[in-house]
Amino acid sequence: MRFGVLTGGGDCPGLNAVIRAVVRKGVKEYGYEFIGFRDGWKGPLEGLTMPLDIATTRGILPRGGTILGSSRTNPFKIDGGVEKIRENLKKMGVDALIAIGGEDTLGVATKLDQLGVKVIGVPKTIDNDLNNTDYTFGFDTAVNIAVEAIDRLHTTAESHHRALIVEVMGRHAGWIALHSGLAGGASCILIPEVPFHVDKVCEYVKSRFTQSYAPIIVVAEGAIPADGDMVTKDGTLDAFGHAKLSGIGEWLAKEIEKRTGNEARTSVLGHIQRGGTPTAFDRVLATRFGLHAITAAHEGDWGKMVALSGTAITRVPLASATEKLKTVDPSLYREAEIFFG
Ligand code: F6P
Repeated sequence: MRFGVLTGGGDCPGLNAVIRAVVRKGVKEYGYEFIGFRDGWKGPLEGLTMPLDIATTRGILPRGGTILGSSRTNPFKIDGGVEKIRENLKKMGVDALIAIGGEDTLGVATKLDQLGVKVIGVPKTIDNDLNNTDYTFGFDTAVNIAVEAIDRLHTTAESHHRALIVEVMGRHAGWIALHSGLAGGASCILIPEVPFHVDKVCEYVKSRFTQSYAPIIVVAEGAIPADGDMVTKDGTLDAFGHAKLSGIGEWLAKEIEKRTGNEARTSVLGHIQRGGTPTAFDRVLATRFGLHAITAAHEGDWGKMVALSGTAITRVPLASATEKLKTVDPSLYREAEIFFG
């Protein structure tokens, strides 16, 4: 059997670990052949490939990014896109696909499965917002990067008596903000799931200064003021129709300065959270996802996504994994609130 492997959407530390595990077990245990599709769904759409075997996947376990490249190409937004994919798979003798991606990439996989394409999904996103899996790989790495930044910002904030705001990724889900804010001892955490009141944030800022500490506020890029709108970068959309985000941190710094008279500055962590080597946790999770994905394919369990449930790797229908996002439960947010101010 011959498999095509692709990685789509925003990249994420651990993608290469999945590719390596899929290929290693597929070749050694099942005698399968692989072909790498380049740049997400653009690969099968345009026939862009690279060789994928044990030799080409050696040494990539700790490497960030993806050796296959990625894109946000959506074949369902392209005229004849799905037919083109089918034709290319046939031409290249590809029997089935392993698609590694987040809500958008796996959303495409879900629709292709419904159209009879054999596909297994592997959940990937630093945002940790895919449904039906306890964790996605990449999240742990992103949180650790954000925590290191927060630790560093504490000391400079205190030296200069400033409020420092850290803007982290998280469009619809505040997992990175919540975990990094808790681990980094933030004075306030703002997430998309719980609209915030600027006056309340200013109270936390003032209270922190009265305790002779400097406030650190962690804000997810998708956090929304209760009486305002989501702050977007430049109003442009990606191929899946998502507005490009970033700017809430800057906006908040201006409001804090205006309302409290304290100096406030913002650090936007942006793509730093997605780059570089994965943590050991993410390497292990990504490797296990890869091993289980090729086994699911071997068993012909098409239309499934491998998932983490507790410490076990399970399989869930792609359709259920992509029907909604896994957002932060407000009760978890309330746990963190005790440390605010
Ligand atoms: O991977 C998801 C994500 O991290 C979102 O939180 C963020 O909005 C998006 O990627 C930004 O990605 P890009 O800049 O590549 O479009």
